Amino acid sequence: MRLHVVDHPLVSHKLTTLRDEDTASPEFRRLTEELVTLLAYEATRDVRVEPSHITTPVGPTEGVVLSRPRPLVVPILRAGLGMLEGMMRLVPTAEVGFLGMVRNEETLEASTYAERLPVDLSGRQCYVLDPMLATGGTLAAAIRFLTDRGADHITCICLLVAPEGVANLERGLEGIDVPVTVVTAAQDEKLDERGYIVPGLGDAGDRLYG
Ligand code: PRP
Repeated sequence: MRLHVVDHPLVSHKLTTLRDEDTASPEFRRLTEELVTLLAYEATRDVRVEPSHITTPVGPTEGVVLSRPRPLVVPILRAGLGMLEGMMRLVPTAEVGFLGMVRNEETLEASTYAERLPVDLSGRQCYVLDPMLATGGTLAAAIRFLTDRGADHITCICLLVAPEGVANLERGLEGIDVPVTVVTAAQDEKLDERGYIVPGLGDAGDRLYG
């Protein structure tokens, strides 16, 4: 697994406002979208393209278009939904599938409560959207779900990650022979005893939709 922390002053600026407890839901949602668009620019660096022959008003030239099958974007409900628009702004022709997962706040175990994804993901590049990689349980389960259906390239976009979660995710991916990259705005200090990222930004789902 590869971890890519995007080092850019605009990303840091928007993340700082997002973290601030005084930032209310409407601004939190807008900033999340903007931040995801910036992260998506980095996350799609290896999106597959194929050659395309076109003619400009001046003459013929060679370019590229996104390859088929189209990339699949998978927001993890609920909080990942707040990241979807920011991603689709950059890749408007992507297909979207949904995974509903929730973490039990006592045991910190993730479980799936909804799924609307293509049955066959053979040869698909998948972009998973989940704001927080805390213990890593949710993302590990989501990635396994996608690779079980044949996805062969997975990139996760997270606003924040915790070092413990990154380590757990690495362990959770053992035996999965598919390249996985996590793109994030920051790797924070640690998890607290409730499984919250510190300093983090609180509960992303609640701040978006609570
Ligand atoms: C939060 C968050 C991630 C998950 C991360 O979702 O949005 O999906 O927890 O935790 P983990 O890395 O420890 O598994 P939550 O379960 O609170 O659901 P929500 O999106 O509906 O708020």
